[in-house]
Amino acid sequence: MRELPYYNSFFRCTTPTPVLLAARLADLSPSGLNQVFFGSSGSEANDTALRLVRHFWALERRPEKNIIISRKTAYHGSSITGASLGGMSHMHGQLHGAVPNIVHVMPPYAYEFAETDESDHDFGLRAARAVEEAILEAGPDNVAAFIGEPVMGAGGVRIPPASYWPEVQRICRKHDVLLMIDEVITAYGRTGAWFGCETYGIEPDTITTAKALTSGYQPLSALMVGDRISETLVEKGGEFFHGYTYSGHPVCCAVALANLEIIEREGLIDRVRKDTGPYLAEALASKIGSHAIVGETRSIGLMGAVEIARENGSRERFDSESGVGNIVRDIAIEQGLMIRCVGDTIILSPPLIWTREHIDMACERLRHALDGAAARLGA
Ligand SMILES: Cc1ncc(COP(=O)(O)O)c(C=O)c1O
Repeated sequence: MRELPYYNSFFRCTTPTPVLLAARLADLSPSGLNQVFFGSSGSEANDTALRLVRHFWALERRPEKNIIISRKTAYHGSSITGASLGGMSHMHGQLHGAVPNIVHVMPPYAYEFAETDESDHDFGLRAARAVEEAILEAGPDNVAAFIGEPVMGAGGVRIPPASYWPEVQRICRKHDVLLMIDEVITAYGRTGAWFGCETYGIEPDTITTAKALTSGYQPLSALMVGDRISETLVEKGGEFFHGYTYSGHPVCCAVALANLEIIEREGLIDRVRKDTGPYLAEALASKIGSHAIVGETRSIGLMGAVEIARENGSRERFDSESGVGNIVRDIAIEQGLMIRCVGDTIILSPPLIWTREHIDMACERLRHALDGAAARLGA
């Protein structure tokens, strides 16, 4: 801040820290993503992603390739673009005019949508085929991209079966549909790798990142752009009329550089992959999974979910007016455990610096909160 509190990135200008950060991100990200657009939020970055993808197809002389396939209950931000790309019906209801040509399909959420006798594997393939059905219905020549979070976060930490992403990727390649991967939650270590794309073997055309890029110390987002798009843009596009006043803010980029260095120096991602991630999965299964009103626990890296159900191990929900999710959340918060609920799904996304002791403490408090809710509901 003392060196350079601000200068803009318009009209062939830049400052040192965004240049260094862009190079660092190109190194860190999966191969083939070598250009970065900076912004101040995930919503802004997804807006840029949508503009880029549609402009790419226009430059390729295929402007009719314009439709985006997304998923119901996906979260991609709160701007008009973000809410339109997202699949939250209550948000759509307040848009009064969404961004057109966005179609939403079934999410890979086995707990709710798998048939009783359907394996996880088969359900994953069925959920992926919902993407193909939407592509075929729209006509592959009209579909620009599929957008998805590797793990749906705000929608309820919906962890896809292992069969889902490879099949989605195969389908998108077959129909020449680009893959826009929204890693606002999963990037920079959450799943035990730098990017959720690595955890799931996804080869994306764009990756949206924000949050953990600075660990929240400053607002910053980075949209990483694959070579296929950027080469077309550079070779055929002329100037791309886009940018925000705070794109590549020098202070935010300096903070991101320091933050990434600390994540690396402290070995946080290895720790999540090898130690705290597996430990969280085991602790949720053994300490929470056995509770009378828990239907399922699941986690990947340091993101997890607990499904509240009428009976242990079942998929039968409490009546919606019981508000059991909110009751559990409120009791947990009274005890100093900050959690969020999405309906009757409790979701957790703790800091990457958590140790086994933190996980034990959280599970203990969560179990008390579940006890309290069960007692209140006479369950
Ligand atoms: C997957 C995902 N995409 C986009 C966003 C929007 O990011 P922001 O709130 O920074 O606009 C979020 C925010 O939670 C998110 O989880």
